Amino acid sequence: MSVCSRTVEGVKSVILSCKGFDSQQTAKFYDSWAQTYEQDVKIINYRASELGVDFLNSHFSGNREEVQVLDVACGSGMVAKLMVELGFRHFVGVDGSKGMLEQAAKTGLYQDLRLALLGTQPLPAQTDTFDVVIIVGALDAGFVPVGVVRELCHAAKPGGLVCMARGEHSGTPANQYKKDLERELQLMEEEGLWSPVGIKQTDRYMEDPHLSAERAKDMQEERYIRGSVYLYKRSIH
Ligand SMILES: C[S@@+](CC[C@H](N)C(=O)[O-])C[C@H]1O[C@@H](n2cnc3c(N)ncnc32)[C@H](O)[C@@H]1O
Repeated sequence: MSVCSRTVEGVKSVILSCKGFDSQQTAKFYDSWAQTYEQDVKIINYRASELGVDFLNSHFSGNREEVQVLDVACGSGMVAKLMVELGFRHFVGVDGSKGMLEQAAKTGLYQDLRLALLGTQPLPAQTDTFDVVIIVGALDAGFVPVGVVRELCHAAKPGGLVCMARGEHSGTPANQYKKDLERELQLMEEEGLWSPVGIKQTDRYMEDPHLSAERAKDMQEERYIRGSVYLYKRSIH
């Protein structure tokens, strides 16, 4: 199946079509969407990667040219494309969709791209290795399970940063996911695994896929879903 969408309505219906999928179905869905993913998400003003990268960058104080970045759920490589403009040079990408990894490979920015369905397969990354671990747009129900957040933390070097950007989608599974995620983040803090650097929230993560183009025309902020970036520093033990 190949998904081709160029209108706002078309992109929204593509996004809604993966609601209720498990992570394996989600990966297949992204295989089918990979070729038009970037042009499609621009249409609905998807700003997750800018949001995550800008917040990370504003708190980063190391040598950008030298550090190792693990881009989890890298998709087609939008995060690395933004980070390279800011001076970062070394990227390893992980994703559960072969089709998305093929698009990421075309950027020529990743020294390695690794296929793994997280939650089902372990994060293919050595522990204590990366200066920066970033995940954008994949911490949600049917995508990357909450438990994987611990693996992200372990992949970071002591003192390394873990940056997680996600949208506040509506519905019971998404609400439950957010509760579980925030409980896990807190628990990991209490266990001394990491400490919070900051949280950034935005009113404009991307256009709300549930809102029809007709209704969205007359609205300002409400036509977008909100998003959050959580930034943590791995503890030095
Ligand atoms: C919305 S895209 C985000 C891609 C990229 N980070 C960006 O911001 O453009 C979500 C990505 O998460 C990946 N993904 C979803 N569930 C996954 C899982 N369980 N394991 C690995 N990758 C997963 C999808 O294949 C897709 O590439």
